[in-house]
Amino acid sequence: MTDYPLQGDVNPDVNPYLISPPPEIPALPSPLRLGVLASGSGSNFAAIAQAIADDTLNAQIQVLIYNNPDAKVAVRAEKWQIPTVLLNHRRFPHREALDREIVQTLETYEVDWVVMAGWMRVVTPILLAAFPNQVLNIHPSLLPSFKGVRAVEQALAAGVKITGCTVHRVVPEVDSGAILMQAAVPILPGDTVASLQARIQVQEHRIFPPAIALAATMP
Ligand code: GRF
Repeated sequence: MTDYPLQGDVNPDVNPYLISPPPEIPALPSPLRLGVLASGSGSNFAAIAQAIADDTLNAQIQVLIYNNPDAKVAVRAEKWQIPTVLLNHRRFPHREALDREIVQTLETYEVDWVVMAGWMRVVTPILLAAFPNQVLNIHPSLLPSFKGVRAVEQALAAGVKITGCTVHRVVPEVDSGAILMQAAVPILPGDTVASLQARIQVQEHRIFPPAIALAATMP
């Protein structure tokens, strides 16, 4: 019998998922002022917004920045009455120009912490220098395995039996910053990209809010 606390169902036969460190949300002295960057459906954005609404994460989403005009995350943000700013990367000559505009927007909305929740652009030192150590990302693998795009496909192709998700600090090298929190997800016989991705996302939604708070309590 492990003495490691399994989250959710405590019976490991029922819930094989493992999160480390345990996702208890540390108390924060003052609300974190978050800026979220997202490109897609925004389920992680919603999980963070819900944790804030539930008073489990002491934070406020100051602004959502999205780069894809059709991204569903914008609709979600409007439902939460969170300001949205579209910065379509196709309208910028290079990554640095986009990042300069992102920094300006984040500063306008008085953001302290930048949360990449499915932001499908590589960020540059321009963003990272403006928010040193305060840019976080979620990635659908147990880093350092399966960095970059199509991490779920990569895990299936490699034949690993356990994968998962990781919240980490962002550094210039893609998916390489200090790891804050991970959740393990077993790969089941017959898993497809869609079925595995769906189970990974459930765990992403569990670890992202506490990992944000954890980052804020660490140097
Ligand atoms: C997540 O799986 C995340 O790991 C990856 O992009 C996906 C975003 O999903 N970086 P959603 O838009 O939050 O639903």
